[in-house]
Amino acid sequence: MFGLSKVVDQIGQTKDLDTISKPLSDVISKITAPDAVKNALSGTWLGHQLHPMLTDLPIGAWAMASALDLTSRGSMPKASERLVGLGILTSVPTALSGASDWSESYGKEQRVGLAHALGNSLGTTLQIASWVSRKCGHHRAGTSLSLAGLAATMWASYLGGHLSFGMGVGVDHTAFQKTVTKWIDVAAEDEVTEGELLRVDAQNVPVMLTKHKGQLRALSATCLHAGGPLNKGRIEGDCVVCPWHNSRFRLTDGAPERGPAAMHQPTWDINVVDGRVQVRSAA
Ligand code: FES
Repeated sequence: MFGLSKVVDQIGQTKDLDTISKPLSDVISKITAPDAVKNALSGTWLGHQLHPMLTDLPIGAWAMASALDLTSRGSMPKASERLVGLGILTSVPTALSGASDWSESYGKEQRVGLAHALGNSLGTTLQIASWVSRKCGHHRAGTSLSLAGLAATMWASYLGGHLSFGMGVGVDHTAFQKTVTKWIDVAAEDEVTEGELLRVDAQNVPVMLTKHKGQLRALSATCLHAGGPLNKGRIEGDCVVCPWHNSRFRLTDGAPERGPAAMHQPTWDINVVDGRVQVRSAA
């Protein structure tokens, strides 16, 4: 296992991969830029990242196809062929959602993400070859190709898991933020002006304050998507737009209106006493 993590480190440090990943991510960013496309692929409509959920479908189908091949001794060729086909079909939305997420990454994360995508592409290509072999009546060849494809997919899954659990890609960057239960004095009321974004700290938790349509609003200043500074973003309509990847959060309740963020940005309660603004974590 130690050897595998060294391989991942090596991939992350291979800057030559940028010659492929940078132009490719630019193209994907352009294609996925429209709000409807970004929201559909990020899982903003669902309130959760879409890609990790979808990966279960092709991996599960291909794993079951190989399990059937190996345990039924070729007596259920149609069932395993259908499972291989199901995996191929479900790999399409899985790959699209992953590509959209990947296009928002940089540096080491993007290089490891590229290796993850290449491993999955190889796995899917081998499964397509397996499905064609099975259709032509070559069940044994199909079995071998599926096993090889599954091995490539498992390697890609290892990299995907490392991206999330080892490198923090896709995790909620406010997940470990402290809950502040007491009212904390953070600013004078007249420091918070209409349409301006002010960063304050409540017991070391960065908070973005603004006044919108005459109402004071407060959201955590660290964007949950990848940690961007919301206080350096801009107000658009009833939302704040993150300066890093353009996620849009509603000022009233932190709901994401545009991905890549898929979850609610934490909000803060506000109290004004003698011209001073106090905040605490919203319940
Ligand atoms: S950090 Fe990615 S949208 Fe905010």
